[in-house]
Amino acid sequence: MDQSGQHETWSSRSAFLLAAIGAAVGLGNIWRFPYLAGESGGSAFVMVYLLCVAGVGIPILIAELMMGRRGGLSPVGTMAALAREAGASRHWRTAGWLMVLTIFLAGTFYYVVASWVLAYIGLAARGMFAGIDGSGSQSLFAELLADPWRLSLWFGVFMALTIFVAASGIRAGLERAVRLLMPSLFVLLVVMVIYAAVAGDFARGWRFLFHFDASKLSASVVLAAIGQAFFTLGVGQAVMITYAAYMPKNVRLSSSAFIIAGADLLVALLAALAIFPIVFAAGLEPNSGPGLIFETLPVAFGQMPGGRIIATVFFVLVGIAALTSTISGVEPIVSWAEEHRGWSRRRVSVAVGLAIWLVGLGSVFSFNIWAGYKPLGMLPVLSEKTVFDLLEYVTVNVLMPLNGLLIAVFAGWVMSRVLVSDELGIADGRRLALLRFLLRFVVPLAILAIFVSQ
Ligand code: ALA
Repeated sequence: MDQSGQHETWSSRSAFLLAAIGAAVGLGNIWRFPYLAGESGGSAFVMVYLLCVAGVGIPILIAELMMGRRGGLSPVGTMAALAREAGASRHWRTAGWLMVLTIFLAGTFYYVVASWVLAYIGLAARGMFAGIDGSGSQSLFAELLADPWRLSLWFGVFMALTIFVAASGIRAGLERAVRLLMPSLFVLLVVMVIYAAVAGDFARGWRFLFHFDASKLSASVVLAAIGQAFFTLGVGQAVMITYAAYMPKNVRLSSSAFIIAGADLLVALLAALAIFPIVFAAGLEPNSGPGLIFETLPVAFGQMPGGRIIATVFFVLVGIAALTSTISGVEPIVSWAEEHRGWSRRRVSVAVGLAIWLVGLGSVFSFNIWAGYKPLGMLPVLSEKTVFDLLEYVTVNVLMPLNGLLIAVFAGWVMSRVLVSDELGIADGRRLALLRFLLRFVVPLAILAIFVSQ
């Protein structure tokens, strides 16, 4: 922050877009989307997911970008400033706190999965998947999870990389990192898809994803799709509202939201098209859940020509995707601490990294020394959940939708039509009316439906 309390800004629209796409594209696209699609009947999930992104995700994303840029501060500062401007209760500031808390908690499990990816880059490069079968692959994954030291170390490495970028500032750190990482990510992804098309069962992979089968639709598919829309777009978790605060005033917001959501969707679909053909060609099933890329895919890589190189490329790709998201994940907390504590960015970044690492150890231990520890054993729905499971459940299923609801209500009901139209630069009455209709009715009802069904 400068002396006048202003945050550093992005140098251009393209820098903002790359960073925001990097925030959206992450483990959600390459780890979570394919395994949810695999578990939830493929195409049925994909179709519902598309509807959720269009009807719920994009309106919230537009609202977050609009609110963030108007406020120009951390989520807490922005909510306080917007509430003042709209003459609303100052308690709206609490929504900003909730968003910052959400991204903090999300970090405490997200990094743990990212640390598995780092470990898998090493395993792939050493050719550990050659000729491996299903049980061998499961043991390899189980061995990693059983080792708290190894996991904590990889977790620390991932955290250090993230903090190094965050501490360097918006232009010298975040911008420079995404300018290098995002093109690399797209190139590696295209290499993977070409490989899957040549060496995998591409036709079956394509059918699995796009041949709509209504019989596979169910309430749980809808729930999974809506949760995934939040997770992957990075909405309801303080990130987009913070990134937008650093955005120049001349950037068009709604077209930016469509570009971010479109790129995010493209990466998720390409990742699925890179994974499923390989899985099918190896005669494996796509429904192994979270273990899809860590247990199933190595078996397929182990049987394929050039599998060692391709496996390494794949896990490097996942690591890059995760890094551009973890960088975005510390930014809301850093910007809040800079504003409220007056600490330097470097000091804040290190403190935030350490705090996430310490709390995140609870997630690491959930797979080994605390595997039997179920903190909320007395509550029926949560009784079987470890610390890792709880952090993921509360963040993705409760806090992100709750924040999305608060954002939709604020942008739809508290901010005036004139204000929204002014910040978005939309003069067209119909487009504005549609956006306000979605924010006022469709999004809140969809989110309330999630809560009721849970
Ligand atoms: N949006 C980020 C992801 O999809 C969190 O991984």
